[in-house]
Amino acid sequence: MSYAAAPAPNGTDRTNAPSHVAIIMDGNGRWAAARGLPRTEGHRRGVEALRRVVRAAGELGVRTLTIFSFSSENWSRPASEIGDLFGLLRRFIRNDLATLHRDGVRVRVIGERDGLAPDICGLLGEAEELTRGNTKMTLVVAFNYGSRQEIANAAQRLAQEVADGKRDPASITPDTIGRYLDAPDIPDPDLIIRTSGEQRLSNFLMWQAAYSELVFVPIHWPDFDGAALEGAIAEYNRRERRFGGLATKTAAS
Ligand code: FPP
Repeated sequence: MSYAAAPAPNGTDRTNAPSHVAIIMDGNGRWAAARGLPRTEGHRRGVEALRRVVRAAGELGVRTLTIFSFSSENWSRPASEIGDLFGLLRRFIRNDLATLHRDGVRVRVIGERDGLAPDICGLLGEAEELTRGNTKMTLVVAFNYGSRQEIANAAQRLAQEVADGKRDPASITPDTIGRYLDAPDIPDPDLIIRTSGEQRLSNFLMWQAAYSELVFVPIHWPDFDGAALEGAIAEYNRRERRFGGLATKTAAS
């Protein structure tokens, strides 16, 4: 299998792809329940969907793809399910890292490393290190991630600088806070997709989503594919992005 960018699928204009797409991959459990399968099978099929979508995003010309893999709130799930999700991450990195690297995908990770098993931290670090020089696409894996915690961490670091006499409180602007988030060099998402029909952000990229277009897709994540991604991008391209101003251009223009 390859993640390399091939010609864009029929009917899609590569130039119209948003630069940064972020996805809340929701509905694995409901997908499984609807088929009388264990939830873990939904997550396993979710990883297959993830592979398809990384490939399709590259083909469509998306520069950055951020995925919500494990939220800070997911710790409230049964230990067995948490173990399954961690096992899938381990396998995803072990099985797919070489392919991602070969295809020029840079892997970044956002979220808290504290509290994660040392081998998971090692794998996440290895994925970031190996792919550091890649430029075709960036895959940002939000793992043990919660937006409020990310913003609180930024506030703590800034408060410490003030306490140490290194910073004037009046110097703290929205740009400053943006520079203290987990991946300050990554531009804000243009498009955030959530699958499974739920319509909320669930503590995902809340600072960065200030002007993102939100597209809610009724299908469950394991059924999501390149065509569904194209559909969400087409919806994005019909939106008018004003950023608080009066411009009357659609996202595509
Ligand atoms: C939501 O489905 C999905 C998750 C909690 C995690 C997403 C994880 C994957 C797609 C697989 C793991 C991938 C990696 C790279 C670790 P849900 O369980 O909340 O579904 P439900 O709302 O229908 O119960």
